[in-house]
Amino acid sequence: MMETVDIQVTRVKKSRLNEMDFNHLPFGKYFSDHMLEADYSNGEWQMVSIKPYQPISFEPSLMALHYGQSIFEGIKAYRSKSGEAFIYRPYDNLKRFNISAERMDMPLVPEDIFIEGMRQLVEIDKEWIPAKEEYSLYIRPFMFATDAALGVKASETYKFMILLSPTGPYYAAPMKIYVEEKYTRAAPGGVGFAKNAGNYGGALKATSEARAQGYDQVLWTDAFEHKWLQEVGTMNVFFVFGKTVVTPSLDEGTILEGVTRDSVIQVLREQGLRVEERRINIDEVVEGHRSGKLTEIFGSGTAATISPLKELRYKDYSMYLDVAAYQVAPEAKKILTEIREGKRPDIHGWLVKV
Ligand code: COI
Repeated sequence: MMETVDIQVTRVKKSRLNEMDFNHLPFGKYFSDHMLEADYSNGEWQMVSIKPYQPISFEPSLMALHYGQSIFEGIKAYRSKSGEAFIYRPYDNLKRFNISAERMDMPLVPEDIFIEGMRQLVEIDKEWIPAKEEYSLYIRPFMFATDAALGVKASETYKFMILLSPTGPYYAAPMKIYVEEKYTRAAPGGVGFAKNAGNYGGALKATSEARAQGYDQVLWTDAFEHKWLQEVGTMNVFFVFGKTVVTPSLDEGTILEGVTRDSVIQVLREQGLRVEERRINIDEVVEGHRSGKLTEIFGSGTAATISPLKELRYKDYSMYLDVAAYQVAPEAKKILTEIREGKRPDIHGWLVKV
C-alpha cells in the first residue's frame, strides 16, 4: 500500500469510546473520535489532516449547498476473530467515487489520500470497530464544493472528508417495497450511476409516501414506461427464479454500480447459479410470482448488506414472498460474512488489512 501522502495527525485528548453503548448502534448516528480532512485549491490537493471529530464552519454562500456538487461513498471495516481490522473492497469504492467526481465536474481524489488516509484513520480509531455479528464500522468518504459564491459553475475549491460511524444493521427486518410509478430517480444521460447527494435528496419524497403507506422503500422504474426495474435507492435488487438470478444491468447508467452487488454476483456464480445482468420488466416479475417461478427478491448494499423482501407491490397486486424459505440470499450473505470474518479464504482479495 502506498504511503506517500503526508498526513498531519492531531489526536483527541480524551476518547469518547467509553460513552458508547455498543449494543445499541442505529445506522449513522454515532461518530468515532477522529475524522480526515483534505482541501483542494489552485488545482491540487493541499494538506491532509486527521483531527478530532468536530463541527466545521462555512460561509452561507457555500456552493455545495446551492448547486449540489456533493458526492459520497459507503464502505465498511470489520474486525476478524483474531482482532485484526480489515476494510472491505475500498479500491472499488475509490473507483466509483472518482466516477461520481468526474460526472459532477469535481476533481479526482488520488489513491494515497483516499485509501491511505482511510487506512490511517481506521487504524487510529480501530477500537471503534464493533465486534458483534452484523455490526461494523461504517466509513463515509465524501467531497463537496467549497467556493463561497453564487455563480452557477463548477467550484474551484473542494473539501474531501472521511467520517467513521460504528453501526448496526440498516434494515433489521424483511422489507416491504412497492414499485414506484409516479416519481423518477434517473434517466439515461442523467446522474443515476453517480453517488451524488442529490440522488438521495430527490428520492426522499417518494420514500416518505411509501412509509406513510406502511412500506419501507420504493423500487425505482425507468422514466418513460415505469416498467423497467432499476434499484431501491439504498440497495441494488436481485430476483431469483429457481436457479437463475436476475439483476438489472448497468448499461443505461441509471443505477449505482454496487460493490456488494458485484460481490453477490461473483459468489452466486461460484455457487453454480446462473446470474443474468439484463433489463428486467415488472411484468416478468409479476408473471414469475403468479406461476410460482419467482422464489426470492432481495436487495444488496454496503449499509443494507443483503436484505430480503417479504412483499413487493405493483399497482393493486401484492407479491408476498416466503422469506423463511429463501435459500439464495441467505447463502450469499453467509459466504460474504464468512469471508469478512476470515472463516473462508478471501480468494478475490476483497479484504484490505488496516
Ligand atoms: C451505502 O450502502 O453505503 C449507502 O450509501 C446507501 C445509503 C445508506 C445512503
